[in-house]
Amino acid sequence: MRHFIAIADLSREEACAVLSTAEQMAATQSRSIRKLPALVGTTVVNLFFEDSTRTRISFEAAAKRLSADVINFSAKGSSLSKGESLKDTALTLQAMGADAVVVRSGSAGAAHLLAHAGWIDQPIINAGDGAHEHPTQAMLDAFTLRRHLRPGDPAGGLDGLHVVIVGDVLHSRVARSDVLLLTLLGARVTLVAPPALVPVGATAWPCAISYDLDQALATGPDAVMMLRVQSERMVGGGFFPTAGEYSRRYGLTSARAAALPAHTIVMHPGPMNRGFEIAGDVADSPRSVIVEQVASGVFVRMAVLFHLLATDAREAPHVR
Ligand code: NCD
Repeated sequence: MRHFIAIADLSREEACAVLSTAEQMAATQSRSIRKLPALVGTTVVNLFFEDSTRTRISFEAAAKRLSADVINFSAKGSSLSKGESLKDTALTLQAMGADAVVVRSGSAGAAHLLAHAGWIDQPIINAGDGAHEHPTQAMLDAFTLRRHLRPGDPAGGLDGLHVVIVGDVLHSRVARSDVLLLTLLGARVTLVAPPALVPVGATAWPCAISYDLDQALATGPDAVMMLRVQSERMVGGGFFPTAGEYSRRYGLTSARAAALPAHTIVMHPGPMNRGFEIAGDVADSPRSVIVEQVASGVFVRMAVLFHLLATDAREAPHVR
């Protein structure tokens, strides 16, 4: 693994290797001293062309826990807002001695371009590219699912699980990466969305598609993942009649959550629109693992950085 661009590039073995390194990273994070020396002397650049809270902070925490230096480079207040090209930015980062670049962009393919255009030699990690992929989010979702629903099998996959993913699939890079990773690991996935929020081409994805949330929930899924309605990408509107209508048909209300099997967990990648796609009390209920997803994000990103940057990455089980 030289870059971490898309789940579509991963084999099941590679995905399981990252997840088990993440388990080892998690074990080190309950110690009194949480910093590991694995990446001493390396510099990780966070290059963010789009707003982000948890993903950027999570990558920063992950790199720092591994003793890397971190440079945060965001579009606002930099020459990126003056129209500097991706190429010139890459050349600058290379000249500054970046050892890895974490990139988030509104354009699908930005991370791939940075990795393969030949401007920069270092490993590239995709932190979300347009509506394409968000592979570390999918890894943290798989990590969280495995911990809750396959606790006795830390080396295995998600075989036999049924995960229902609900909401704005059209604008969601999380949905695409999750469908690919969860099915790669053996789970069955059902996407639920209003017809206008299902991407053209999703019928070719390895999952079922439903327009009826109550019908999908009646199957008793092991996990329900709610997606944010990405209003900032809905210029012109027309994707659903009204917010109230959306909540009634596709929101995870208290009544819907109460009817789920006792073991079913509720997930959301954040940021949440409380009271819109998910009721506040469902987000705060015991079956919600939303805060835990954030913690898992740090472990998974530590694992990805470790696999790409540590010189002894092949010996991942011996994280000091
Ligand atoms: C997601 C993203 O940015 O793709 N959030 C995240 O990374 N935690 C989903 C979203 O913005 O709704």
